[in-house]
Amino acid sequence: MKFEKRAIIFDLDGVICFTDRYHYQAWKMLADKLGIYFDEKINNRLRGVSRMASLEIILERSDKAYSEEEKLAMATEKNETYRELLKNMTPADLTDEVRDTLKELRARGYRLAIGSSSKNTKFILERIGLGDFFDEIADGTDIIHSKPDPEVFLCAAKKLGENPADCAVVEDAKAGIQAAKAAGMTGLALHGDAENCGEEDYNLKNFADLLNIF
Ligand code: BG6
Ligand code: MG
Repeated sequence: MKFEKRAIIFDLDGVICFTDRYHYQAWKMLADKLGIYFDEKINNRLRGVSRMASLEIILERSDKAYSEEEKLAMATEKNETYRELLKNMTPADLTDEVRDTLKELRARGYRLAIGSSSKNTKFILERIGLGDFFDEIADGTDIIHSKPDPEVFLCAAKKLGENPADCAVVEDAKAGIQAAKAAGMTGLALHGDAENCGEEDYNLKNFADLLNIF
């Protein structure tokens, strides 16, 4: 199977690198402090979801009603813990497979961008040595609505100056595949709950499989 595209937009967390465990640890610390049950299964529901929406999912298990101010303070606390954990990341956290595939796609003439809900996108890209690599970055600081809303991918296409129909998206979250489809783009699923979610255009066998379809 081959796709005729000009640009490829990559989700960050769970596609380019694996920050899930740090998100989990940081949310878990907050949930434990609040006495709220939280496990890996609930954490899976947070993929592709914005920070505040993630907090709302965690608070579903709480009997207490919190004010907006308290919720903002909780999200800030989680983010501070998360950013401390992200300092453990180095260029060694980027796999050879991802690095070599990205370089080869660039060599084949594709425009490459990031489309992530995370407000920590640029910090993470710097940590793994991709700070200057992508042609454009659309992230949580550019958008109001997070995935499954198409806003972040439409923003990436606009920054690239490409038509949505000429863009493909690589996603590990079902919400991300839905966002790609709602943007009029091709949705490529890689692992996670994106895989075989029923709305993807293609399931990637692994990251390097991109070189078989482009
Ligand atoms: C997404 C993650 O990339 O970014 C979500 O999959 C996360 O789990 C979201 O909640 C927002 O991240 P951040 O870094 O802005 O808190
Ligand atoms: Mg993801």
